[in-house]
Amino acid sequence: MLKFSLRALACALSLTAVAGFAQAEPVVIKFSHVVADSTPKGQGALLFKQLAEERLPGKVKVEVYPNSSLYGDGKEMEALLLGDVHMIAPSLAKFEQYTKKLQVFDLPFLFDNIQAVDRFQQSAEGVALLKSMEDKNITGLAYWHNGMKQLSGNKALREPKDARGQKFRVQASKVLEEQFKALRANPRKMAFAEVYQGLQTGVVNGAENPWSNIYSQKFFEVQKFITETDHGVLDYMLVTNTEFWNGLPADVRSELDKIVVEVTAKVNEQAEALNQGDKQRISEAGTSEVISLTPEQRAQWREAMRPVWGKFEGEIGADLIKAAQAANQ
Ligand code: LMR
Repeated sequence: MLKFSLRALACALSLTAVAGFAQAEPVVIKFSHVVADSTPKGQGALLFKQLAEERLPGKVKVEVYPNSSLYGDGKEMEALLLGDVHMIAPSLAKFEQYTKKLQVFDLPFLFDNIQAVDRFQQSAEGVALLKSMEDKNITGLAYWHNGMKQLSGNKALREPKDARGQKFRVQASKVLEEQFKALRANPRKMAFAEVYQGLQTGVVNGAENPWSNIYSQKFFEVQKFITETDHGVLDYMLVTNTEFWNGLPADVRSELDKIVVEVTAKVNEQAEALNQGDKQRISEAGTSEVISLTPEQRAQWREAMRPVWGKFEGEIGADLIKAAQAANQ
């Protein structure tokens, strides 16, 4: 009898151990994005994984899905809201459905350079925007830089009139559509994963992207010219599902918050050098000509695109635009 009880006890204990073990399963964080591992965002996602798994061993496991391998544009936000992925970092142009405020980042020629973008992101107004979608269950954790956008085409784009009638791929952003309409060009919304083929087959003739995307997606192989316009910014908001993040055990969440700060500093410190390296590699490849603009030519592009601001001032808010402009100093 005693023998039986001991066996039952041992069995019960081992079941408890199994149950305990099951409870201690690590939290799996799926991080999905659309670019290559070698880009600022790709590197950031991998560093986040490394630090989270090093510092929270057995508690957190991060799965990174680059290059639209799990979800592409359009689907990744839905997946975040459904809880199918937990972290994404879409470009600031891709939040239009959730807040109109972030459209400020797409206004052409608003920021003089990436340093000005950074100052605005760190300002009180910029920080407040991270929380602007919490009513939609989206929490912004940080801004990550990619860089300033360059204009590529199969035609040399030196003056705004060169863009007339050309078909340009745009991200899902009304501001960017209007930007090309202002040039009397034809914008066409297209998911990032389809851009290479779109350029190759002539569905579109041109596009706008930072050097790191142009290089890693090989757009330079299917574009004869790239004009260094720096006409706008392509940066990201690292976002999570608000309920998911708030539901994490407090110790895990606070460690992840610290890791996000550390990774963000690294991404933002390295993005510019990474882009410049890719610019160099594109020049060396020799498949497309890199065009520099004279200050007069750049002023022409600025003047041609500038009317776009007026169209969105109501939705974005004149004060927010002013705050962003102030970051140019
Ligand atoms: C694009 O669609 O061109 C970019 O937003 C891709 C990215 O994530 O850098």
